[in-house]
Amino acid sequence: MFEGFLHTSIIKRAIEKGVVEVEIHDFREFALDRHKSVDDTPYGGGQGMVLMCQPLLDCLKTITTDDSLVILMSPQGQTFSQKMAVDLSNEKHIIFICGHYEGFDERIRDYVDMEVSIGDYVLTGGELSSMVISDAIIRLLHGAIRQSSHEDDSFSNGLLEYPQYTHPAEYDGTRVPEVLLSGHHENIRKWRLKESLRRTMIRRPDLLEGRTFTEEELKLLEEIKENY
Ligand code: ADE
Repeated sequence: MFEGFLHTSIIKRAIEKGVVEVEIHDFREFALDRHKSVDDTPYGGGQGMVLMCQPLLDCLKTITTDDSLVILMSPQGQTFSQKMAVDLSNEKHIIFICGHYEGFDERIRDYVDMEVSIGDYVLTGGELSSMVISDAIIRLLHGAIRQSSHEDDSFSNGLLEYPQYTHPAEYDGTRVPEVLLSGHHENIRKWRLKESLRRTMIRRPDLLEGRTFTEEELKLLEEIKENY
């Protein structure tokens, strides 16, 4: 599952440049029986299989260092966010535990530092979610992409990103907003801030709740509301 992720585009280049190192460990190799079992039926009965402590925790022991942050991927965890991506990008070593099973033996939770979910839906395993989180972290690392590329990211200033355009200036009768062609940096900055606010107000008003606005933002919000 990780092949495409590790060998494509920005992540591939980040690995080649030594910006990040990624290792995949298969805890099935730590299973003790000849079938290499890693899961078993739940105590108390019920559907499905439960991931056993021993293979996973034996594997974890071989890779954990003093610098490791151990994250369990699960729909029961804290919801991932851009803020969490920024915080995690400062960690030295992150271990993502990905179960491709219906549940973990509860005692596994005693060995993890955090439990993280990528949203309120259930995937067949934690692999995709660990890739989602790794991707969001790796692109923030110094040298992965141009630093200025993520300064305007959606969420980085608590707002959605403003609309972007590239050539041609007119396509199928729709023109790029004139201000963007003007070369007037201050007007462009102001237009972008206003459009960020407008877009956030319409699409994600929840992001504006409890936010402290600058004088300029308040004035722009008034203008947006007047014409809404
Ligand atoms: N594993 C299964 N579903 C998940 C989710 N929503 N987030 C993280 N890991 C998961």
